[in-house]
Amino acid sequence: MASFVSYECRDGLAIVTIDNPPVNALSHGVRAGLIDAVHALEGDAAVGAVVLRCAGRTFVAGADIRELGQPPRAPILPEVIEAVEGARVPWIAAIHGTVLGGGLELALGCHARIADPGAKLGLPEVSLGTIPGAGGTVRLPRLIPIADAVELVTNGKPIDAAHALKVGLVDRIAGGDLLEAAEALARELLTGPMPAPLVDRPGPDAETVDWNSTAKALARKARGAQAPLEALEAVREGISLSGRDALKKERERFLRLVASEEAAALRYAFFSERNAGKGLAAMTAEPADLSRVGVVGGGTMGAGIAVALLLSGSAVRLLERDEATVAAARQRVLETLQASAARGAITLSQADDALARLTSTHDYTSLSDCPLVIEAVFEDMDVKKQVFAQLDAVMPPKAVLATNTSYLDVDALAEATADPARVLGLHFFAPAHVMRLLEIVRGKHTGDRALVTGSDLAKRLKKIAVVSGVCRGFIGNRIMAAYRRDCEFMLLEGALPAQIDTAMKAFGFPMGVFEVQDLSGLDIAWALRRAADATRDRSQPYCQIADRLCELGRLGRKTRKGWYDYSSGGPQTDPTVTRIIEEERVRTASTVREFQGEEIILRIIRVMQQEGEAILAEGIAGSAADIDVVIVSGYGFPRHRGGPMYMSGSKALQATDAP
Ligand code: NAI
Repeated sequence: MASFVSYECRDGLAIVTIDNPPVNALSHGVRAGLIDAVHALEGDAAVGAVVLRCAGRTFVAGADIRELGQPPRAPILPEVIEAVEGARVPWIAAIHGTVLGGGLELALGCHARIADPGAKLGLPEVSLGTIPGAGGTVRLPRLIPIADAVELVTNGKPIDAAHALKVGLVDRIAGGDLLEAAEALARELLTGPMPAPLVDRPGPDAETVDWNSTAKALARKARGAQAPLEALEAVREGISLSGRDALKKERERFLRLVASEEAAALRYAFFSERNAGKGLAAMTAEPADLSRVGVVGGGTMGAGIAVALLLSGSAVRLLERDEATVAAARQRVLETLQASAARGAITLSQADDALARLTSTHDYTSLSDCPLVIEAVFEDMDVKKQVFAQLDAVMPPKAVLATNTSYLDVDALAEATADPARVLGLHFFAPAHVMRLLEIVRGKHTGDRALVTGSDLAKRLKKIAVVSGVCRGFIGNRIMAAYRRDCEFMLLEGALPAQIDTAMKAFGFPMGVFEVQDLSGLDIAWALRRAADATRDRSQPYCQIADRLCELGRLGRKTRKGWYDYSSGGPQTDPTVTRIIEEERVRTASTVREFQGEEIILRIIRVMQQEGEAILAEGIAGSAADIDVVIVSGYGFPRHRGGPMYMSGSKALQATDAP
């Protein structure tokens, strides 16, 4: 037997243990070991029941990612599960940790399941562009209510043990020691009749699900991804067939999807995220302690950053300008926590605990015991320089100073301090406590300790860190500025905002570029354009439409008018905007023509790719995959398409980013 799987027999029970650190993935050795264990125990007449458990921190967490996208190697998982399910004695899965994908399918092949109260169970295959391929779509609806099975299979999100017990996915939750409780359950089964394998149960009544409206709702959420719809179809088809025929059909569908472009793109996105920021994690400098962090500026971003830090367990000292702005910032943090609790993202007691770790001040000296300070004041170089000079005066030499600037020159800011090595950019995305991306901006002076601190912070906040060099807008905002500019030129050439936004949404963006601008407000970009106006290169084309909207007070949703009219709720095309666009076309003597959706989206992607190639050539991003991670996780680019650089088949990407 392979060493990944061992067993011992005592008093009529066998305990089979999978031990494949770190997460007991179903590598080839585990599969082979399990088959051997089944065969050996089948031949041992003294064994009346089997407990299947895992060593270490979790029951099987899924497939071995090193085998993702590789040709299957026998014994494949469906064979293993079939062997377990077909055993002459009951197998009981003793589940703890994070039981995902093939791990849950293996547990479904067992004849009973008992879970540790902290266990999480799920079938995340759709997030990799596939469906469960080892019986998940067949056995699950034969065990739990069909609506719950559909939910688990199509949305990919895990559920906790209590939920699993409620729907019947597990038979019991262990009160104390999991193995002891599993053995007790196994002894109960020893005396009763052999439970029927799930695959032999009849499928549930299909009539209880409204398949059409479920498919429509899924399609809306999937934004063009096919896997969730395929998963739904697999369940629907599977319950109309015998379990064994359904298994064959599921496997065929799984194999077809594994080979699809969508699955390849999602695997790429998965590996790109895992690789992002790895260079920093390998550095040996000692990071700053993150148990207390200072935040300067408690507006939209500062409050969100404070909430992210508080929820990670850090104490936060929030600095604002005066008593009134301190009070407003505290209120913002409180409201953000309350909204998270109302959404169910955190419990009320987590919100209370978080708030108890917040202190606020307008006195810089009280930040001096914070090993890291993150600045999020107005996007104004003079204001930020003053803040950095004040911080520099009070912070001990080892403290790390970070700026959340969106566009400004981190090197210039660092130079406002005596030791620029301790300065870096930590560019969060709004809302900062929700969005997973963090650009870590490495200035020309930034030292290793500051970088390692940024990397540690990302880990602590469960964010994906991507390293960017210094340029206007760093990786993400620079690419966004480039395609936004091009979209405005498309308006001069004959397209309208709604046409561009519709094309982007059809491609899979959650919102179009003009809707996004209306949501975040047109005024900040307008202020930046005015500040840069004196130094603007007049030989380059410039589109004035956005400026004209701002001059009319149309600053986006907050003024109920921007690129669209929001006076009656959602975005409506506004004749005033169309008129301004037409006037600008005339004023600039533009040649006007018809645009099709496909041309619009190809052009947007091409601009993203061109800017991405420039960013790579200048060494701002470490790899094409890093650029894709930024654009996918920070800017709504559909993940199932990999990212703009992936779509270009960038040479840099093939050379350096293969998983
Ligand atoms: P905001 O206007 O909502 O908040 C700025 C806060 O800074 C205000 O509460 C203000 O009272 C405070 N402040 C100003 N000067 C100060 C000083 N000298 N000392 C202490 N506090 C001071 O601005 P927002 O949107 O939060 O932006 C902050 C920074 O984050 C900017 O650099 C912005 O570019 C960046 N950012 C903004 C994003 C967004 O979506 N809003 C996204 C990512 C970065």
